[in-house]
Amino acid sequence: MTSKMPAVNGRISVAPSILSADLFRLEKDVRCVEQAGADWLHVDIMDGHFVPNLSFGPALVSSLKGQTTLPLDVHLMVEKPTRFLEPFTKAGADLLTVHLESADDVVGAVKEIHRLGIQAGVSIKPDTDPQRLSSVINDVDLILVMCVYPGFGGQSFLPSSPRLIEQVRTLINASGRKIWLEVDGGINAQTAGTVIKAGADALVAGHAIFRAADPVRALNQIRQAAPDI
Ligand code: DX5
Ligand code: ZN
Repeated sequence: MTSKMPAVNGRISVAPSILSADLFRLEKDVRCVEQAGADWLHVDIMDGHFVPNLSFGPALVSSLKGQTTLPLDVHLMVEKPTRFLEPFTKAGADLLTVHLESADDVVGAVKEIHRLGIQAGVSIKPDTDPQRLSSVINDVDLILVMCVYPGFGGQSFLPSSPRLIEQVRTLINASGRKIWLEVDGGINAQTAGTVIKAGADALVAGHAIFRAADPVRALNQIRQAAPDI
């Protein structure tokens, strides 16, 4: 397998989350964000155990892979994610993110994702001690900081998030490695500037883009709040 996910490039990446897209017209929504200049497509996978909601499986990733050239940023909100690494890689994920809090060997999962030939991310929930990331910091390509408790789109940005992002930015800089710092949950034109100032360089947005009256305008507003760093 190969990954289309770019290396950290000093620019802000915007990743619309299709959790908030209209699945009946998914193609139209994907084309819309492609044309609006989205960098990646964020795909939320939920198992009803790690989070109290269900969403998609590898089949959706496989369908997207054939139809879009955007890198597929797949966020696994599942218990024991190791079971699903190969199916999602075969389906066409360019990057797989597992949760540090999932009941699994996260260090082993990161190594397995790399063995499968794609990039690896690790995510933390809002109340997880960021120092726990030290076990994976020398291996990961991306750290995903949740700015809401995962499970649902359309929640409000938690005010504790900027501090957590700053702490993760400090850890990344101290590692001396190029690691994306992605943020997810409650990101919109108002919160984008705050998270970038705190150190984020990849922004996931679901409701703010797909539920807007004009998704192209909404994506551009997030970009404008998020000038190149
Ligand atoms: C939440 C998901 C998010 C979600 C974000 O658990 O991980 O990716 O789609 O949605 P918004 O941007 O609406 O908060
Ligand atoms: Zn997500």
